[in-house]
Amino acid sequence: MRPETGRSKILSNVVLSQVGEHARFGGVVPEIAARAHVEALDYVIAKAMAAAKQTFNSIDAVAAAAGPGLIGGVIVGLTTAKAIALVSGKPLIAVNHLEAHALTARLTDDVQFPYCLFLASGGHTQILAVRGVGQYVRLGTTVDDAIGEAFDKTAKLLGLAYPGGPEVEREACGGNPGRFALPRPMAGRPDANFSFSGLKTALRLEAEKIAPITDEDVRDLCASFQQAVVEVVHDRLRAGMKVFRMRHGTPTALVAAGGVAANEAIRKVLQRVAFEHGIKLVVPPGELCTDNGAMIAWAGAERLALGLTDPLDFAPRARWPLEEIAGPKTQPGLMSQQDA
Ligand code: KG4
Ligand code: ZN
Repeated sequence: MRPETGRSKILSNVVLSQVGEHARFGGVVPEIAARAHVEALDYVIAKAMAAAKQTFNSIDAVAAAAGPGLIGGVIVGLTTAKAIALVSGKPLIAVNHLEAHALTARLTDDVQFPYCLFLASGGHTQILAVRGVGQYVRLGTTVDDAIGEAFDKTAKLLGLAYPGGPEVEREACGGNPGRFALPRPMAGRPDANFSFSGLKTALRLEAEKIAPITDEDVRDLCASFQQAVVEVVHDRLRAGMKVFRMRHGTPTALVAAGGVAANEAIRKVLQRVAFEHGIKLVVPPGELCTDNGAMIAWAGAERLALGLTDPLDFAPRARWPLEEIAGPKTQPGLMSQQDA
């Protein structure tokens, strides 16, 4: 992939989902996740290299996610990347997995800086100003649960399968979104923050009131929940866009990333926000919105093009806010170009 020329091509993108191994526990079990990484990684790398028709000698660099996230899996992935980099003599790029989500739209749609990013996954709910590689300003975040987590907890409460987002969306299709009066947390506030725990509690109380719940109740609860989330996202993104314009000017696009961006009702409301602001909406295809290797490789390619490589003793990080990423700002020559 060549970010400096704007041309990019995914040669292979092998994703091995562990969902099946965690489903019966209703959520991700850290120890299972780490062990599954150890068992699967060699095979996944071999498969990806074969599909791409590349060898460790023919590549320019090795990029790996170095956080934030469940540390067991991150350690396994980063250590493996270090070994490959060391043996093949290629530079290592330790990628922040949130940065990879943030830059994916440049791989798929060549979006120019600055743009507004709505990152909505199982662990994150953020509105960000993406000003350049390594230059991320958080405009809003959740003060409690992440948006995907709210979908997952709702699904669990209603006896639906894990991961809950797609299940809740499916049930919501046939339900009545007006039947239950659920709150719209944070709506109307000038900041761009989110809150989902009150919504989850309100849903639980409504379900308890009518227990035992029927299939129709489940559909109506899902529809009412999704409607509340959609309205909250609309309101919070409007606030986020206002803050963006005040601080960073007009964004080139509204970009969505993370598993929740796969939700059709949420996509529709994102389209509306983009339309209201006269900018385009960019949502990378589902398989590139959820966690995948191609997005890490792309972030690595973007960083490599700016000379941003990392030492082999780079420590994996369970917590790694986007604002703490080292960017070209630390390189005087590139600062004016990025800040222009
Ligand atoms: O980005 P992702 O694949 O993994 C991380 O969390 O990093 O996001 C997974 C999250 C889960 O919480 C899942 O329930 C949610 O995205 N999700 C959805 C949908 N598809 C996935 N939420 C709502 N509607 C969907 N269609
Ligand atoms: Zn992710």
